[in-house]
Amino acid sequence: MSHIFDLSGQTAVVTGGNKGMGKHISLTLADQGANVVIVSRSGAPEELLETIRDKGVSAHALKHDLSDIDGISRLVESIYQHVDRVDILVNNAGVQRRSDAVEFSQEDWDFVQNVNAKAVFFLAQAIGKNMLENGSGKIINIASLLSFQGGIRVPAYAASKGAVAMFTKSLSNEWASSGVNVNAVAPGYIATEMNEALINDEDRSKQILDRIPAGRWGDPSDIAGTVAFLASKASDYINGEIITVDGGWMGR
Ligand SMILES: NC(=O)c1ccc[n+]([C@@H]2O[C@H](COP(=O)([O-])OP(=O)(O)OC[C@H]3O[C@@H](n4cnc5c(N)ncnc54)[C@H](OP(=O)(O)O)[C@@H]3O)[C@@H](O)[C@H]2O)c1
Repeated sequence: MSHIFDLSGQTAVVTGGNKGMGKHISLTLADQGANVVIVSRSGAPEELLETIRDKGVSAHALKHDLSDIDGISRLVESIYQHVDRVDILVNNAGVQRRSDAVEFSQEDWDFVQNVNAKAVFFLAQAIGKNMLENGSGKIINIASLLSFQGGIRVPAYAASKGAVAMFTKSLSNEWASSGVNVNAVAPGYIATEMNEALINDEDRSKQILDRIPAGRWGDPSDIAGTVAFLASKASDYINGEIITVDGGWMGR
């Protein structure tokens, strides 16, 4: 008998599934039995694909720049050339641009909105259509603490993640009754490439650490378990939720 977290026979698309948190999400979903399609700008190292295949599931990597919104229909065609159906979509890819608000450029604003919000919505729309036809599916968007807070020197990022939180709820409101769960995970401060500038800034890094009750930055592997939970039938009655995984930050 399969257990409640079992994903055997299901297929997951993980954007940005090649590095950072996304890599751990890809590996954890594969551990639960899901086939994995990784979408990213740089593809995925053969070693990662082999590690996934060694778990007895299939692994594909597709190169696509998600800032190219018009290209999303091509991306989706290409996904369905590799797999018959998508049961789980993890919208994890994201970018950051840091600058004082008075100097923040339109170019950076548009880039961040396109990758972090617009691509997430339109990929969810395109794959969600098929999930609605199937009568089942799990969409998990990676939000942020900046879905709730404004942050410092990251106005476009905060705006984009605020949007992710709200359209996670909008999609959920429309699709929950058709068997498609749309939820989000809001990670706290996780030690990945994206946060190198913060980690290297001693003062900011200390300010951040002082507020985390768990007493440490998050590890990129800390997020994958919650994503796997939201991908599984254990979360069938969770809809439009944004789960913080932050070492207690939001409780302070
Ligand atoms: N780190 C944190 O503290 C933190 C906190 C809250 C939320 N998040 C969110 O968590 C998600 C993962 O972040 P991370 O920290 O793991 O970041 P990361 O280590 O910088 O990885 C970002 C991932 O996104 C992919 N990506 C970036 N731009 C892309 C584009 N235009 N097209 C396709 N793929 C693209 C990258 O792959 P390629 O470089 O190969 O394209 C990479 O796999 C993001 O949505 C981020 O906003 C992070």
